[in-house]
Formats: sequence, structure tokens, C-alpha cells
Amino acid sequence: MSLIEQIKENARKNKQRIVLPESHEVRTLMAADQVLADGTADLILIGAKDKILAHARQLGLKNIEKAIIIDPAGFEKLGDYADMMVELRKSKGLVKDEALNLLMNPLYFATVMIKFGDADGEVAGADNATGDVLRPAFQYVKTLPGISVVSGAFLMFLKDKQYGDNGLMVFADCAVHPNPTDKELAEIAIATARTTRAIAKIEPRLAMLSFSTKGSARHELVDKVISATRIAKEMDPTLKIDGELQADAAIVESIGLKKAPGSDIAGKANVLIFPNLECGNISYKLVQRLGNAEAIGPVLQGMAAPINDLSRGCSVEDIVDLIAITATQAISTK
Ligand code: ACO
Repeated sequence: MSLIEQIKENARKNKQRIVLPESHEVRTLMAADQVLADGTADLILIGAKDKILAHARQLGLKNIEKAIIIDPAGFEKLGDYADMMVELRKSKGLVKDEALNLLMNPLYFATVMIKFGDADGEVAGADNATGDVLRPAFQYVKTLPGISVVSGAFLMFLKDKQYGDNGLMVFADCAVHPNPTDKELAEIAIATARTTRAIAKIEPRLAMLSFSTKGSARHELVDKVISATRIAKEMDPTLKIDGELQADAAIVESIGLKKAPGSDIAGKANVLIFPNLECGNISYKLVQRLGNAEAIGPVLQGMAAPINDLSRGCSVEDIVDLIAITATQAISTK
């Protein structure tokens, strides 16, 4: 069974409530129909019920009626949701009328619904930019205890099976936080180790990447990675992690032995932590395109409840897969 089939099977056994705020969007509706037929999650669609059902009929979809459909405009808990938002954002000056207004935006409504305990996770982004999906999540769902930054990991299925665990590696941060501090980079490492166990189902061996291996170059950017590695070890002394390592020293055994003798990660890493978003985003796209690797993600990590952002170019299958991954994250954070 492929990893994604295992993830779906796992999700089916312990059904989670996943909210889809972009129910007006064709691919999202088609994916919802498939998920409802497969039973991978219970779905909550945000929007006007008659419009959504008419759209589903037009598309020939047979399962959308199995979803819970909520129209924020007439929703009975709207006042409670708004009160909670005001409580959470009073230091930012949020007042109830503004909260009620924000709740008419399905992206805000969905995240507040999760915070209120009425949903377990969210998938959006087929029709909205990353920032618009993430901002309400940052403001209301916030991060897990001990983690202050959200980041995004990719599961990379490589053609060459000698790397990682039989060709499977995890890369982060490739999607969210442009320029992490050393502490934030350490948190990204910790969160990625959790994602690797929960979603990739492999035991993480993390390499903190740099343009230097064990002092071969001196620069403040190298110092940041050295410091992040130390902080990550302090945060979790059981973590299998090493740095700073160059990419070749991290993944090629002979080079690891030469450049970082004595390291139990060099040459064997299955998780690559990039020093900033530029490196991470560019690297995963190059490996995907030039190396013909399959990239699944971004799987957003560090959030108190799973909220995942789709690429606007996503396929129906991408949405179906991300719903199953989100459900699996929800199971693992409970
Ligand atoms: N983790 C947790 N909270 C965060 C993070 C983070 N990484 N970044 C910002 N926040 C919080 C802030 O603390 C703030 O909270 P507050 O309102 O309670 O004080 C709130 O979010 C808004 O913060 P801003 O600094 O105003 O953040 P902004 O909304 O401007 O930016 C964003 C956040 C949109 C995620 C930005 O970091 C960004 O654009 N990142 C790059 C995303 C991207 O384009 N990725 C590449 C494409 S994805 C791909 O290729 C797969």
C-alpha cells in the first residue's frame, strides 16, 4: 500500500471533521464528493446550502448531501464565535461588530470554528493566496505549546532510492516563514521531526543545512545554523540531529564520512532543514522538477490544529490527499 493510501486508511478509522471554506470552488467541491464517498473525513462546507447543492447537481456529484453545510449568515453560534474572537484579540482592539464582519469571510469562519471546537482541521487555498489562508489561522488557532512559528514541510518521493528512507525525505521550511531566527529554526526542526513521524511514518534523522560543514566556513549565517542545532538539542535531547552540514555531507555517505567524521547523521539524513525560506522553497522545486521527484505538501506544522494551504494550481487529487493528511495531523495532535 502506498504511503498516501495508508494515510487515507488511517483517516477512515478515526474520522475527523475537516472544514472546507472554499465550497464555491469546482475542484474543492469535486474533491469533497470523493472524500465523502471514500469516508476519509466528515466534511463541513461553508456557504449557502441551496447554492452549494445546486452547483453539486450541475457537476453531477452524488455525495455532497452527506456534508454538513453551514452558511455563516444565519448561523446560530455566530454571536458566541464573535465573543470568543473579541476575547482572543482584545489586545489588538477587535470589537464585536468587526468580529461579526470577519466571520462573513469563510476563511475566518473556518478557523474560528476550529478554535471553538466545532471542527478538527481545515483545507483551503485552491482559490486564495497563502497569506489569506494563514493569517486567520495565525490569529485565532495559533501555534502549539513550545512552538512560536508555523512552517511548511514537503514529503519528497525521490526517484533515486539510495537517499533518505528508500527515497523518502522530508524538507522544511519550504512554504511559510521567510527568515527564521536561530530559535525559530530550532522550532522548525522540532515540528518537522513530528511531521516526519506522524505523516511520513519514518524515524527522523535531521540535517541542519548550511554552506559550511562543521566549521569549514565562518559567517554569521553559519553561526545561526550552529546555534539553531544546539537549541533544538536542548529542546529535545532525544532528537537525532546534526549541523551545520552542507547538503552533500548530509545525504551522501562517503562525503559525510569525509567532511563530518563521527556524525551519526551525515550521509544518512532523511530530513533536511533549510536555513531560510529562499533555500527551502527553491530547493524543493528544483528537486521536484530537475530530479523528477514527487512532492507532497506543504504540510503546515506547528499550528495548534491542522490547517493546510493548497497551491492555486492544485488538482482534485491534491485536495483529496491533503484532506487525508490534515485528518491524520488532527489525529496525531489529539
Ligand atoms: N508562524 C506563526 N505566526 C505567524 C507567522 C508564522 N510563521 N508569521 C506571522 N505570524 C503571526 C504574527 O505574529 C501576527 O500575529 P498577531 O496578529 O497575533 O500579532 C500575524 O501572524 C500576522 O503577522 P504579519 O507579520 O502581519 O504576517 P503577514 O500576514 O504579513 O505574513 C505570511 C504572514 C503571509 C505567511 C508571510 O510570512 C508570507 O508571505 N510568507 C511566505 C508565504 C509564501 O509566499 N510562500 C511561498 C509559496 S508556498 C509554496 O510555494 C508551496
